[in-house]
Parts: sequence; C-alpha cells; structure tokens
Amino acid sequence: MERGNFRSKLGIILATAGSAVGLGNVWRFPYMVGENGGAAFILIYIGCILVLGVPGMVSEFIVGRHAQANAARAYDKLSGGRPWRWVGYLGILTSTIILGFYAVVAGWCLQYLYAALVGHVNGSADYVRQYFVNFSTHPWKPVLWGVAFVLVTHVVVARGVQKGIERVSRLLMPILLLLLFILVVASCMLPGAMEGVRFLLMPDFSKLSSSVLLDALGQAFFSLSLGTACLCTYASYFKKETNLTASAGQIAVLDTGIAILSGLMIFPAAAAVGVSPDSGPSLIFITLPNVFTQAFTPAIGYVVSIMFYALMVFAALTSTISMHEIGTAFFTEELKQPRNRSAWILTTVASVLCVFCALSVGAVDIRLMGFSLMDFCDLLTANFMLPLGSMLTCLFVGWYIPKKVVVSELTNDGTLHMPTLLQRYFLLTVRVVCPLLIALIMLHQTGII
Ligand code: TRP
Repeated sequence: MERGNFRSKLGIILATAGSAVGLGNVWRFPYMVGENGGAAFILIYIGCILVLGVPGMVSEFIVGRHAQANAARAYDKLSGGRPWRWVGYLGILTSTIILGFYAVVAGWCLQYLYAALVGHVNGSADYVRQYFVNFSTHPWKPVLWGVAFVLVTHVVVARGVQKGIERVSRLLMPILLLLLFILVVASCMLPGAMEGVRFLLMPDFSKLSSSVLLDALGQAFFSLSLGTACLCTYASYFKKETNLTASAGQIAVLDTGIAILSGLMIFPAAAAVGVSPDSGPSLIFITLPNVFTQAFTPAIGYVVSIMFYALMVFAALTSTISMHEIGTAFFTEELKQPRNRSAWILTTVASVLCVFCALSVGAVDIRLMGFSLMDFCDLLTANFMLPLGSMLTCLFVGWYIPKKVVVSELTNDGTLHMPTLLQRYFLLTVRVVCPLLIALIMLHQTGII
C-alpha cells in the first residue's frame, strides 16, 4: 500500500510543531508554573527539555524514519520481530488514553469559544466561577463538546497525511502564532501587568520540592509529544533529506518559546486584576474570563476572549490530530483497512473514554485510586507512561539498533556533517543518561528510593 508523506519542509516542521504545541503549552504549562513557583520551575523544565527531551525526540525520529512504518511495526522492523513491538503498542495505548481526556478539555475550549461568540462568558466573578462549575459538571454538555472535538479530529485525519494533517497544520499554526503575539502584547500593556511578568521571570527556589522534578519531566515529555511513538509515526512521513537533529532542535525551541509566551499572555493579565497565579487547572476557564471582563472595555474584551478561545481550539486540534494518527496509521497498515475505516476504530474508542472522563469531572463519581478518572488518566500517562515509553525508546536506539543505522539516520547517509563529538554525546545520552535519570525520577516518585 502507498504510504502518505509530508510534502514540504515547512509542512514537516509545522505539522510536528502542531503536535507539540497544544493545551500542554497554553493550559497545562501555565498552571504548572503557577503551582510550582514560577521561574524556578521553568528553569528545571528547560533543563529537562535539553537533556532528556531533545535526545528523546531524535531517537523517535530515527526509529520512525528508518522503518517507514506505523509505531508497532517500526520497532518490530528494526529489531527483527522481537518483543520491542510492545513499545509501539504501549505508545498507541498511551496516546489513545491521552486523546480521551484531552478531548474533554478541548471540548471545554470549543464550548467557551461558542460562549465567547454569543457573549455568555462575561459577568461578575461569582457568575464566571458558577458558569464553569455548572458547565463542567453538567450531565451531557461537556460530553457532547468533547465527542464533537474527537469527530472534528476524525475528519482531518481521515483525509490523509498531506490533505488532512499537513494542510490543517499549515493553516492553523501561523494563525495561532499571530493570535498569541497579539494577546501577549494586550496582556502586558495592562496596568499592573509587571507583577505577573516578574513572577514568570524571577525564580523563587523556596517552592521547589522533589515532586517538582517529576512534574517538570512529565510536562516536558507531554509538551514535546514524547514517549508515545507519536513523533515516530510523524517521522515515518518525513523526507530522506530532513535533518533530524536540526528539526528536533527547532521544534523544541518553538514549543518552549510558545509555552513561555503563553505564560506571558496569562500571568500579566491575571496580575492586572489581582488574581493569584496558582489557581490550578481552572486558570483558563475561571481566572481568564474575569480578566476579559474586568481589564478591558466590553468591545475589546469581547474580541480578546474570542481570539483566546480560538487559539486554544487551534492548538488543541493540531495535537489531537497527532494522537489520533498514531492509532489510525496502525490500524490502516496492520488490518489493511481503508484509512477512513481505521480512523473510525480510533474515534469510537477515544469517544467512549472521553465520555467517561467528561462525566468523572462532576456529573458521575468515577474514581480510580482516589482520583477522578480524568485526573487519573492525566497523571498515569504524563508521569508514568510517557517517561516509560521514552526510556524504552532511548534504550532501543542506544543499545539495540546497530550504531551504523543510527549514524546513517543522523547524517542522512553521510550527506550531512555532524561532528563526531556530537554523535558521541547523543549516543551517551540515549544509552545511559536518559534511561538512568528517568528511572531515578520515577523510582523516587513512587517512593521506592
Ligand atoms: N504535545 C501536546 C501538547 O502539548 C500533546 C500531545 C500531542 C501529546 N500528541 C501527543 C502528548 C502525544 C503525548 C503524546 O498539548
């Protein structure tokens, strides 16, 4: 069967960056920063990206582009059919779980975009809080919006790699960047905004604890879309000439830059109306609508709120597309089904999970180990499954596939120059540094050491 491919270099970067840039940047990163002491958390986060994230990304790229196959088959192909295929299965499972709970928050954003358009999100602080509580615990509204989001994702993925994924990313990513810049400027110009900028840029190390390390690590993996073979699947559509190391660097810079810009959009605005930045996951849905009504004139507040929720929806969509594609590519190639039909398998599974996650937020008491199903899925994937998947990929690339293959992928068969020192550094990190650090952090968190 003919495999899809990204058409252009820009398409490759925008689609992969589209996967990386998502609610992880605009929703999860700011509230994590708010809860974990501002700039101090950011510094640790950047450390995780540089030391573990970029080598992890390059590793997934190597597996995907070399094998030119879906996640499970890629590991299989490079290992001659040994149990490494299970790393691919783990990735497909993880990304489907993520899609299930991610679609709930993406659905909230879609609903808020609609509410912003019809002017429903403005009112007193109490009204805004009650609005969020009523909506998120409603028995069917969040369910419908979440499933709607999965269906929109389905439509894009079913159209294929070039006509669906690449085209949508090329359209939405530039709009997203433009909206972000406008909103950062609007937020930083508000009176009293400097307090928020200071919070974001001045480290307060007293808030740091060991769990911050795992949070930063989980957030780094989540934000780069690492550890679920998502990047491996996308890399299987890369061109022979794509420079894997440079692309990983560019995407990491873009992703981290956008996360920090999101902080610069949110914290100064929150500071301007005197709201504390550590209000957790509801920051975007309770704190910000207050900002829109209190800090701006009604007309500007209306436009700004629409721009903001449109940005959230766009960011979320290019990410859900990538989670969906991992499973869709797998079913298409393994079951030899037409793309549309395999996309339906994934849409069905993700929608069912999305329904239960959405209900667990308030309407129905669905708990696992003391957490609501929604929080459980988030913690389980970000803090355990992603680091595990990434650790296994590093071990696989470092120890298992022949060094010749690794070097040939890094240098595009010798046509690209890559200093030997850099090659050695890469091998050392994926063989020893990444697996060891990830294992230590995970063991520490589970209380074993
Ligand atoms: N990186 C995305 C974000 O920041 C989320 C995401 C997309 C993801 N694809 C993934 C996370 C695969 C883990 C694995 O919002």
